[in-house]
Amino acid sequence: MREQKSEFYQLLQQQAQSLIEDETDLIANMANLSALLFNEMPDLNWSGFYILRDDVLVLGPFQGKVACVRIPVGKGVCGTAVATGDIQLVKDVHEFPGHIACDAASNSEIVLPVRHSGKIIAVLDIDSPSLARFDSDDQQGLAGLVQLFEQHLARTL
Ligand code: SME
Repeated sequence: MREQKSEFYQLLQQQAQSLIEDETDLIANMANLSALLFNEMPDLNWSGFYILRDDVLVLGPFQGKVACVRIPVGKGVCGTAVATGDIQLVKDVHEFPGHIACDAASNSEIVLPVRHSGKIIAVLDIDSPSLARFDSDDQQGLAGLVQLFEQHLARTL
């Protein structure tokens, strides 16, 4: 990872750790993590969580404009992340078949599955108005952040 981004994600990881370490409430932690990302990462228009409930992703804590409430597994970028179990790094959302446009300003997006006891329980969704806002360094940095959250969930849920 390039040094500048590596430092950025190291600091973000420390901030995330201190925000969630003493709190066990899932919603409160998701709320603060989405606010941290929205305020610290440049060039975003949306960041937040969708929580998996019976094969449907339901809108969770987020920052940004109002968003679609329910996304079935397999639909959109978020539902594809759940169906495949893989991080979705989308450089141009207009080229992603079935992309769900909640905020017309979004041009690129990254969605990361969040797991507890080996199962996906939520996704972290981050949108940007810029094309190709997220690269493999961001993917690596954000995967580290999600891993930190998953380790916290393993201890507290
Ligand atoms: N674009 C997402 C929908 C959620 S919004 O970006 C907040 C998707 O295609 O799943």
